[in-house]
Amino acid sequence: MKKTLLTTLSLCLAMVSGFAQENFSIDSLMAKMTLEEKIGQMNQLVGNILTGSISNSGIKAKISAGQVGSILNARGESVAALQKIAVEQTRLGIPLVFGLDVIHGYETCFPIPLAMASSWNLETITEACQVAGQEASRDGIAWTFTPMCDIARDPRWGRIAEGAGEDPYLGGEIAAAQVRGFQGNLDKPTDIAACVKHFALYGAPQAGRDYYTVDMSRQQMFNEYLWPYHAAVKAGALTAMSSFNEFESLPLTCHKYMLQTVLRDIMGFQGMLVTDYAAIREILQHGAAADLKEASVRSANAGVDMDMVAEGFSTTLADAVREGLVDEAIVDRACRRVLELKKKLGLFENPYKYNRPEELELNGSAQNRAVARKMGAQSIVLLKNESEVLPLAPGKKIAVVGPLADLSMEMIGCWAVRPQNHRPVTLLQGLQQRFGAENVKFARGCHVLENEALENQISFHDRKDRGWDIPSDKLRKEALSIAKKSDVIVAAMGELAEMSGEGSSRADITIPEPQRGLLKELVATGKPVVLVVMSGRPLILDWEDENVDGIVYAWHLGSEAGNAIADVLSGDVNPSGRLTVSFPRCVGQIPIHYNHKNTGRPAGDFQPYKKYISLYQDVVNAPLYPFGYGLSYGKVEYSDLKLSSAKAAVGDKLSVSVKLKNPSERDITETVQLYIRDKVGSITRPVKELKGFRQVCVKAGSEMTVELELDSAKLGFYNSELQYVVEPGEFDVMVGPSSDSRSLLRSSFVLE
Ligand code: BGC
Repeated sequence: MKKTLLTTLSLCLAMVSGFAQENFSIDSLMAKMTLEEKIGQMNQLVGNILTGSISNSGIKAKISAGQVGSILNARGESVAALQKIAVEQTRLGIPLVFGLDVIHGYETCFPIPLAMASSWNLETITEACQVAGQEASRDGIAWTFTPMCDIARDPRWGRIAEGAGEDPYLGGEIAAAQVRGFQGNLDKPTDIAACVKHFALYGAPQAGRDYYTVDMSRQQMFNEYLWPYHAAVKAGALTAMSSFNEFESLPLTCHKYMLQTVLRDIMGFQGMLVTDYAAIREILQHGAAADLKEASVRSANAGVDMDMVAEGFSTTLADAVREGLVDEAIVDRACRRVLELKKKLGLFENPYKYNRPEELELNGSAQNRAVARKMGAQSIVLLKNESEVLPLAPGKKIAVVGPLADLSMEMIGCWAVRPQNHRPVTLLQGLQQRFGAENVKFARGCHVLENEALENQISFHDRKDRGWDIPSDKLRKEALSIAKKSDVIVAAMGELAEMSGEGSSRADITIPEPQRGLLKELVATGKPVVLVVMSGRPLILDWEDENVDGIVYAWHLGSEAGNAIADVLSGDVNPSGRLTVSFPRCVGQIPIHYNHKNTGRPAGDFQPYKKYISLYQDVVNAPLYPFGYGLSYGKVEYSDLKLSSAKAAVGDKLSVSVKLKNPSERDITETVQLYIRDKVGSITRPVKELKGFRQVCVKAGSEMTVELELDSAKLGFYNSELQYVVEPGEFDVMVGPSSDSRSLLRSSFVLE
């Protein structure tokens, strides 16, 4: 639809319905609404992109009957067409709000969220979200279901890819940066509503299996899991989403304590709360309601405002109100929150505000892709660089081997909207462009998985041309042949995009066997091997760490994947990514996280087995790569840790300073990390907690002093009575390049 037509349409409609008049108020609108129309606002239907089994039957008729308040998973022309029905054919002309999972990009795909988090660069994360929101808003989208604030300590869980990792404080900083990026000041047509999800604790399913049971103490929940949701609420996120899982034997979709007491009363959330996909129906499967009506009543009474596609509210709530099972005031409250959201988004003034087809050609622009390339390079974590195998010197003969080197669409990762016109750059393309095609030879070598049927089931993209018709022996021989003629082997291995993300848990999280087997043969050639891992989760890299020269963790980096990796491999960009999750040595160490408790029988991180101590017989306690870890080309030296005072009163801010020296010949972007340990508490406290960080550029051959602020208000925790307290006593302060105890400088102070 043309812009002029849309503008004229919206102006006329606004005048007719009175929404443009100054005295338009939600109160006056609600005074005109019937009970059914109010419940209609609480109903969200799905458009043509499905992420569950519920489909969109009769969507247009339901909209024109005033039974729908929102649509998810529609874009472009279908948004405009459905909006037209809502504003022209319903009695009150209330516009719909269109939501979509703009998780890590739109036409321009950014790295998966876990990768973006590894940048520790809040500014670039905000910028990436701004671009994603801007692109989506041109295509009708007013609302994204981001940020995912779920702390995850179990890399078997596929959705670890969608979050910021294992740390509450860092998770909170990143969630707030995402909200800022998407929502801005809500004064531009490119600012869209954010959604705090999945409330709550969805990242802690037992055994790492998606949708599985979550159980933990309330105290653990408050101290270790709620912070990122809270930070996103404080950043002003307009909406929140309840999660699929149960907690304390009650699905979150009908958990009044969580949705009302914790989210609203304690955290102060005032926005609109939507369920997760068809989650009201899932209350039946959980066994917490006998039928859809009971499930809907429980959800409404627990504080859910909008039903995502279950059609429980729209089919049962009016009767439930008439029967006295739900107070009409609850419906009024929910409807008001939906209308307020639409008002804040400016949809009453212009229902087509978010449809700007004339701007769509700007999506995927060179400028936006430059942001994706920058974000991509910043997200990469260099895990190993033996004998300085990296960066690759110009003129070297490079053998690129591995099934992920040329699969473009797999680079978009688990939850980017599939780009319409811009295919992601592969590693092969990136390296050929950077090092010259004549220096870069490619052989697939093997498949991602052993089994064609399974690979086809898991991968949506580019199923053709994967070489299934070629005998695996031939693939392998080709790879070994180019490897033997090369100066260095770059092995591109790991996971397909859909091996992580929703419904993609894995029990064995090593690099799948056909690839690992090939890697062993590549190492056996005696040539230097750089392993580039593409993945949505931490993989177990025990063998790789021992046997490969260089390991570059490249996640799924989006549109500019190949270029961003080439930037790092060539040394054009000095890698600066640092892990935000611990990488276990084996699955048996899971759950593994740096901020664990000490226990009554503590063991050193690398202490060998001794009976009656808290460790394993067959593996040390330390992860393979700890939280905060990552290498650069060159190493910054830390010294002179100083605190502004050895004593502080509650409410004081301490200044913590440390000296950095970069003796190398390259500038290094260093992330200075500040951890504390509360030595004695009324309840036990973790051995380390991140309380601050600063990213600085330390110029080649230079020294600098970095100061970080330590706010004593941040030293508190929820005690046994679930009250937030800051307790006096001694605190250790640790500063360094990662959470690895061996790398940290230490000091301490007393809080009086
Ligand atoms: C996911 C949510 C998502 C929703 C809407 C669900 O399956 O759990 O994260 O926002 O679908 O697409």
